[in-house]
Amino acid sequence: MRRVLFAASEAIPYMKTGGLADVTGSLPGYFDKEEFDVRVIMPKYVCMNEEFRKQMRFLCHFYVNLGWRKQYAGIFEAKYKGITYYFVDNEYYFAGEQPYNHIHEDVEKFAYFSKAVLEALPYLDFCPDIIHCHDWQTGLIPVFLHTIYGDQNYYAGMKTVYTIHNMKFQGRWNLQAIMDVTGLPEQIFVPDKLESYGEANYLKGGIVYSDYVTTVSKTYAYEITTQQGGEGLDGLMNARKDDLFGITNGIDYEVYNPKKDVYLLQHFDEQNVVEGKAANKEQLQKELGLPLKKKTPLLGIVSRMTNQKGFDLVAYVMDQLMSIEDIQMVVLGTGEEQYENMFRYFEEKYPDKIKANIGYSEEMAHKIYASADLFLMPSLFEPCGLSQMMSMRYGTLPIVRETGGLKDTVTAYNEYEQTGNGFSFANYNAHEMLDTILYALEVYRHHKKEWVGLVKRAMREDNSWEASARKYEALYRELVDDNVKD
Ligand code: ADP
Ligand code: GLC
Repeated sequence: MRRVLFAASEAIPYMKTGGLADVTGSLPGYFDKEEFDVRVIMPKYVCMNEEFRKQMRFLCHFYVNLGWRKQYAGIFEAKYKGITYYFVDNEYYFAGEQPYNHIHEDVEKFAYFSKAVLEALPYLDFCPDIIHCHDWQTGLIPVFLHTIYGDQNYYAGMKTVYTIHNMKFQGRWNLQAIMDVTGLPEQIFVPDKLESYGEANYLKGGIVYSDYVTTVSKTYAYEITTQQGGEGLDGLMNARKDDLFGITNGIDYEVYNPKKDVYLLQHFDEQNVVEGKAANKEQLQKELGLPLKKKTPLLGIVSRMTNQKGFDLVAYVMDQLMSIEDIQMVVLGTGEEQYENMFRYFEEKYPDKIKANIGYSEEMAHKIYASADLFLMPSLFEPCGLSQMMSMRYGTLPIVRETGGLKDTVTAYNEYEQTGNGFSFANYNAHEMLDTILYALEVYRHHKKEWVGLVKRAMREDNSWEASARKYEALYRELVDDNVKD
């Protein structure tokens, strides 16, 4: 049996702010159980749902040295859909109403978490061959493993895989402060290790010290080796090119399934997609107080509201878009105030056309994926993107910018060859986006047969986890077998 431990700051169903949680919580269920035992470790946040907290079983406790600090760590365990999750408990670090706070608090919080993960292992009945770390919050795990824990027998030969879900967030902070918090030797705070542009950088640490580095799509794996996409680390990504793999995410086909989605009153499949979507649309219009119009094209947005997601383009052409007589838009999202307010403003201006749900709701997300005709995701950059795949599964055609994983998962409609599963545009330009939306609306209104063909192709697209899980398995196998040879 090969043992793999996922270490992450969030995982469904326990904590989710974005796609990271979907990946760390659903991928472990897709490995071949005969060969791989994959478990997850994450923080036990005070703001977690009480129902979940009650199900966690206390395993052990110990203390973690963080420079001069000595901090309590409790380890809890729970099972969800057959997968074992471990939780690190410390109510000082993991307090608050959300998992992330200001970066200066988070760098200490996740230095603590990373060390606690390594300290916890000897107490568990699970000694991983590989620790699979995700994003900057766990970047120090490979660093600690190869420095402070390097000469301890228990950790000898343990390998690390590091997955970058977003290069933009690097966990960067003042060198002295990070030296103090981590207790790591000064010699590793240098440009070819943990230092970057005068600061300590957790993501960089993870990339430098891991055996393999992966990211969540092929195109993004390329983009981060370029100056435009590298967020200042393109040199390093080029240096690690031979150990860098782009593995496109999947989505959970059990949860995102129009045939049995727990949030939908009207289930449907490819055969009755036209009627099924129309019924869902009508219900959503009713729920949100939009005019009940089955034929009006409905544009959906479900997204974290950050500049990554392309909302500057949307703001720029919204008035033009709303000048179309027959159109509706439903938005769900939360994040930066400027974007939340922008959607609130347009809702007020066009109350019969736009509904802006500012907040987080799993239920509303599923309803939008199922009810909308088009899903707008004009991202500035997108490591993979799950929302476009979720909408396709429900026959909602994505309109995306050709970047990162959006480029790899959406093929633009070709009216001559009758191919494609959505609509796309190349440049980060508001009018290019608007033209693409107008073109999509034209197909929707005047080429019904072709539209239904597109919808069915989108639904047939296989974006399940199976193919990606096999690729991770191959990497794990290489690493563990490599160890046996040593
Ligand atoms: P990112 O991870 O960059 O936010 P992804 O497309 O990979 O983008 O994943 C986003 C995930 O978060 C999807 O599961 C999407 O449905 C969900 N999501 C985003 N915003 C909300 C929200 N306000 N309410 C519910 N789910 C949301
Ligand atoms: C990040 C990226 C998103 C990706 C997700 C899961 O949040 O922004 O593109 O799909 O991680 O890998």
